[in-house]
Amino acid sequence: MSSNIEDIPAGKGQAVGIDDLSVYVPRLFLPLAGEFSTNRGIDPGKLIKGIGIERMAVPDRHEDAATMAAMSLLDLMKHSRLRPEEIGKIYVGTESALDEAKAMGTYVIGMLEKIYGKGSFQECSTVEFKAACIGTTFALESLSYWLAGEEEDKVGIVIASDVAKYPLASPGEYTQGAGSVALLLKKNPRLLALEQIYGTFTRDENDFFRPMGCSTAVVNGKHSNQCYLDAMQGAFDSFSAKALKKGAITPGAGECTTDFIDHLLFHIPYPRMVEYASAAIFRHDWRQSRRWKEIEEELGPEPKAQEYEDHGKYQAAEADYARRFAKSEQFLQAYAAKVRDTATLSRQIGNIYTGSIYLGLASLLESQKIHAKERLSFGAYGSGCSALFFSAIAKQQASSVPRRGLVEKLEERRQISLQDYEKLHEGKAEKSVLMPCKEFALARIDHQGYRHYEYVE
Ligand code: COA
Repeated sequence: MSSNIEDIPAGKGQAVGIDDLSVYVPRLFLPLAGEFSTNRGIDPGKLIKGIGIERMAVPDRHEDAATMAAMSLLDLMKHSRLRPEEIGKIYVGTESALDEAKAMGTYVIGMLEKIYGKGSFQECSTVEFKAACIGTTFALESLSYWLAGEEEDKVGIVIASDVAKYPLASPGEYTQGAGSVALLLKKNPRLLALEQIYGTFTRDENDFFRPMGCSTAVVNGKHSNQCYLDAMQGAFDSFSAKALKKGAITPGAGECTTDFIDHLLFHIPYPRMVEYASAAIFRHDWRQSRRWKEIEEELGPEPKAQEYEDHGKYQAAEADYARRFAKSEQFLQAYAAKVRDTATLSRQIGNIYTGSIYLGLASLLESQKIHAKERLSFGAYGSGCSALFFSAIAKQQASSVPRRGLVEKLEERRQISLQDYEKLHEGKAEKSVLMPCKEFALARIDHQGYRHYEYVE
């Protein structure tokens, strides 16, 4: 259902939102089916269907989260013909911090000044946002408030950049990936106007964390899936209540919140998780709607905890119902229409942590299925844990924004061997697999730990 939206209410000022975005992905990849699956003793069907990833993006020896951030920002600036003096703030969301104190954005500015001239960004402030995979979304929320009150007509940039890294041969390994997304936020954006309705959920959890000094995270994988679903539902309820109160969504009898959302984007640690999340949210939301009768006709009534003396048996019945719901006609139709295309790029890249939900947006734009006045919702999740559910309305120009050809670009990457991947993963590669060319590169780390970058022509 398309929303009956005239335009974002101007409120005190003009609408703010996403004007453009650029994605950077390393030029190397490792296919999961083949050498990798054989060596790890995993059925390739599990990786490709069960997890949903075909190829994992692998950063080369000269790349890190800062070079990838600089690459996505450079592409965004070139594409949007943006000058450094027009940018008021660069917020970087990352969980791949390179320093315990120095903001990653200062390294990024240092790199960009090699192109635009020394001092060209000196009036631009930069902060690093850390909140696991939700850091970039909190950065976007903060930047949108700043932008609404900004009086010098400056724009803001939000960059997500991460290397998703787990120990070799661990269950997290096959969800790894790397990449960066840079978002241009401004008043009167071309693509998406934010509705400024943010539903939040936070609680203290140990699902995924990386103690000081560790290069890979401590992961309680199955628990992290459950935390994601609980937090998403909490944030969705918070969003629904706020959207209703604000009059942004006005469900009639038998209607529910997701009837008013045309595209649902979720955090993508791996594409199957998007199926789990959307099934959980649709099931939760549809209970209030006329659809539920049809669901019960197809699947029977849901199991209820109070009807089971043995909690284990209730959990098994609940898991079975969830599985059957995810295969129901109603869900499969809603998933295909409103969710599926957001995960296309992630299948070829893997997890990019805090940027993955915006990779979902790029994926949707590539499929050219966003039309003016449609409502998009974003369900971001960060371990630890927090979720933020918010919405935006597609602007008139959204459907005519040219594709960036990301799918084709991914086909131009170089496949590497398992051995090369493992050397890069363990920091044992003596040289880059592909020599840097027209890109930022880490040249060296000096005796104090300061990182030196260059732009290689
Ligand atoms: N063919 C097709 N599908 C297969 C299969 C095969 N041969 N073997 C297993 N599968 C399916 C499973 O049935 C399951 O699907 P289902 O949920 O529909 O039943 C799916 O593959 C995943 O298998 P499972 O064994 O549950 O996953 P896992 O033990 O490999 O763990 C993670 C998956 C995500 C928990 C693990 O990769 C991890 O810890 N990742 C890092 C943390 C993370 O990403 N968390 C997400 C929330 S932030």
